[in-house]
Amino acid sequence: MTTKEKLITHVLAGEPVGSRSKVTVVGVGMVGMASAVSVLLKDLCDELCLIDVMEEKLKGEVMDLQHGSLFCKTHKIVGDKDYSTTAHSKVVVVTAGARQQEGESRLNLVQRNVNIFKFIIPQIVKYSPNAILLVVSNPGTRGGREGGIDILTYVAWKLSGFPRHRVIGSGTNLDSGRFRHLMGEKLHLHPSSCHGWIIGEHGDSSVPVWSGVNVAGVSLKGLNPHMGTDADKEDWKHLHKMVVDGAYEVIKLKGYTSWAIGMSVADLVESILKNLHKVHPVSTLVQGMHGVKDEVFLSVPCVLGNSGLTDVIHMTLKPEEEKQLINSAETLWGVQKELTL
Ligand SMILES: NC(=O)c1ccc[n+]([C@@H]2O[C@H](COP(=O)([O-])OP(=O)(O)OC[C@H]3O[C@@H](n4cnc5c(N)ncnc54)[C@H](O)[C@@H]3O)[C@@H](O)[C@H]2O)c1
Repeated sequence: MTTKEKLITHVLAGEPVGSRSKVTVVGVGMVGMASAVSVLLKDLCDELCLIDVMEEKLKGEVMDLQHGSLFCKTHKIVGDKDYSTTAHSKVVVVTAGARQQEGESRLNLVQRNVNIFKFIIPQIVKYSPNAILLVVSNPGTRGGREGGIDILTYVAWKLSGFPRHRVIGSGTNLDSGRFRHLMGEKLHLHPSSCHGWIIGEHGDSSVPVWSGVNVAGVSLKGLNPHMGTDADKEDWKHLHKMVVDGAYEVIKLKGYTSWAIGMSVADLVESILKNLHKVHPVSTLVQGMHGVKDEVFLSVPCVLGNSGLTDVIHMTLKPEEEKQLINSAETLWGVQKELTL
């Protein structure tokens, strides 16, 4: 008899029940690992799986996390380049991506990322046909960060064949988080008490909905009717500029962004796995909404629960805000129709 056999009497007949809340993170770069750690520290899943093509880096990251198992409540941490390891995932977070090379055209960069997705998405579908896909990868489409995530969410939707409620882009969830942080700094309040929604394209062309900015139901635009315009002496508009510039500044200072996107991903995963029915600004198919005619994904307030993205909240938008969404949609469709899927 082995020590284990002497110590433990096995009473279960048959196979044990498998994981009930497995999360897979594809891509163990800066964003993937920040997302993985944030999910772990919030005790969201009973199994965490990591996937990457860089085998040694992947193995190192998995081992490093496993060594911390004692200090968290996720029973199983696994990783492999073989997608069978991802089987039965409830949520798959896709952070894998290729970076822009010197002189590379934007369309080329997006197409290279599409090619990566052409490999990843069918493998995920094969092993977790009921998963909810959360797309985070974001190759910029106009030299910046804008729109890439919205296009790749569309690509993931097309390649997966999943219904639209199971393909979600992290979209402007982070942009809105940045906005609420800055609003909190200005008012000396916690961001959770500062309400404001950034919608549309993730990044430079995002749309701040000034009419909805409030604290405790008090509309700030009601107090300051010029809010969000050039006529505003307090220049609240600058907050949105800081949201847009924030990522570039972090990248300039530390080389990449990771913690805030990781935490915002965990917030979305929490709403899904705990069936919270919380409303988040995330990227979904918006064709037919706010005058958008094209088959594109953009961020609007969406309800997240364990079926995925179940509902969209209708925002009361001004004509110029809807115009911005329509312009974004036309630009994204212009890129999408050139892609080879
Ligand atoms: N949505 C957001 O708000 C947001 C914020 C920051 C970064 N991002 C995006 O997230 C992505 C990842 O950023 P990062 O800083 O972690 O990049 P990174 O270069 O550090 O990591 C990317 C990882 O993807 C892996 N990868 C490449 N091809 C793969 C494949 N076929 N299968 C599996 N893994 C593969 C690479 O090996 C690498 O480990 C980028 O597209 C970036 O633009 C999004």
